[in-house]
Amino acid sequence: IVKTLHEMPGPSAMANLIEFFYRDGFSRIHEIQLEHSQKYGKIFKSRFGPQLVVSISDRDMVAQVLRTEVATPQRGNMESWKEYRDLRGRSTGLISAEGDEWLKMRSVLRQLIMRPKDVAVFSPDVNAVVDDLVERVKTLRSQQDDRQTVHNINDLFFKYAMEGVATILYETRLGCLENEIPKMSQEYIAALHLMFSSFKTTMYAGAIPKWLRPIIPKPWEEFCSSWDGLFKFSQIHVAKRLSEIKKKMEKGEEIKGGLLTHMLVTKEMNLEEIYANMTEMLLAGVDTTSFTLSWSTYLLARHPIIQQEIFEEVDRVLGGRVPTGEDVAHLPLIRGLVKETLRLFPVLPGNGRVTQEDLIVGGYFIPKGTQLALCHYSTSMDEENFPHPGEFRPDRWIRKDASDRVDNFGSIPFGYGIRSCIGRRIAELEMHLALTQLLQKFHIEVSPQTADVCAKTHGLLCPGAPINLRFVDRK
Ligand code: HEM
Repeated sequence: IVKTLHEMPGPSAMANLIEFFYRDGFSRIHEIQLEHSQKYGKIFKSRFGPQLVVSISDRDMVAQVLRTEVATPQRGNMESWKEYRDLRGRSTGLISAEGDEWLKMRSVLRQLIMRPKDVAVFSPDVNAVVDDLVERVKTLRSQQDDRQTVHNINDLFFKYAMEGVATILYETRLGCLENEIPKMSQEYIAALHLMFSSFKTTMYAGAIPKWLRPIIPKPWEEFCSSWDGLFKFSQIHVAKRLSEIKKKMEKGEEIKGGLLTHMLVTKEMNLEEIYANMTEMLLAGVDTTSFTLSWSTYLLARHPIIQQEIFEEVDRVLGGRVPTGEDVAHLPLIRGLVKETLRLFPVLPGNGRVTQEDLIVGGYFIPKGTQLALCHYSTSMDEENFPHPGEFRPDRWIRKDASDRVDNFGSIPFGYGIRSCIGRRIAELEMHLALTQLLQKFHIEVSPQTADVCAKTHGLLCPGAPINLRFVDRK
């Protein structure tokens, strides 16, 4: 017999209210996911004010939901994003768009950046950024007494990720890894920080009804002004590229270029759509990649024997040669390192879907229009999916033979299916190339000033304290 939502277990609305607003549950979303699935089972319901959410932390149920998706899946309520865009007369981008509008943009972009081989062509550009990263490590450590420590490594990876994704998206360098960061890039970084520091407040802003805004105006104002900053930056860079292209056309020269050039020349999207997508992709591509790099290097530093094994693989395959995207296929432990990092620290500890039709999941009837929370952190930490789930074992991702399946729905850090992460291959290229070169050049150690670093959720799963690492030259 199929049960109703009414019969589904879960914490009471009051308990949730206290947990999230009083006990600051927003910074422990990943832990609460685990606690609740242990207490109520692998499918349970919670209430956030008027919003009912059905959480799923069973691998097979997650698979069922994602495998039976319709043509235009919806992640969650994007009203506040849409409202800003309507207010300013701007387009939605891939993250905020829905339905046919989304499908049209997705079809354009997926042809350009979804396959590893399409993205491998960016290897030289990304490697140029990696060179600057390595130089920056050397500069930063030389400023310390021990000549080895880099403090708060995420600060550095943030700049690397921004520079990397901008090289690919805007076909330009921003100078984030220079001693003096250009003013425009500094302003952009400030807007990005404001967007994330106001993440919590905008979550409250989404929960705060519009009529309360005159009384509590700050969250909405900050939300709008950080979007203004992000859009302005995209407009400037798109305009710059456009004028370069025009000049070339006037001279009758051949137009060659990357992603942005392609979009501007083919006109499959209009200018507003290009601005919106450039803005949303840059927003989605910086913190995600930098947190993952921070955790990867932290885990390597904490596990010297594993670090040595991965180094030996790199050394065997490449010698001292600079890696390219094509080489990564022959570096299974480098790929395992990134997969295992994202299993232990999935930057998006959970994901959402709004059901587009009635479903039966786990024996419950779930009506169309229900908000689901897919609990990736819980499934990643489930003993049934990953033996000894707390242990860092990059080699668990290496296939023993062709029939061996290590990939499963227990860990899908980039989501799954037609609405999955469009930047996955870009992110992987940036992380694989950076980690390989860092291992070629340095022995990475934890600084004695760094105690155990735990994760906290701040929109994304991020390091709860600064990670300080020592970079010791390899001979
Ligand atoms: C470690 C790095 C990254 C992780 C773990 C990550 C993870 C994710 C996840 C889980 C989603 C939701 C997928 C779903 O709903 O099924 C997503 C969506 C998205 N990501 Fe990423 N991401 C990363 C890097 C990037 C980068 C570098 C870019 C841009 C170049 C990017 C652009 C996007 C966009 C535009 C979407 C929305 C796609 C859509 O709705 O069609 N991401 N990402």
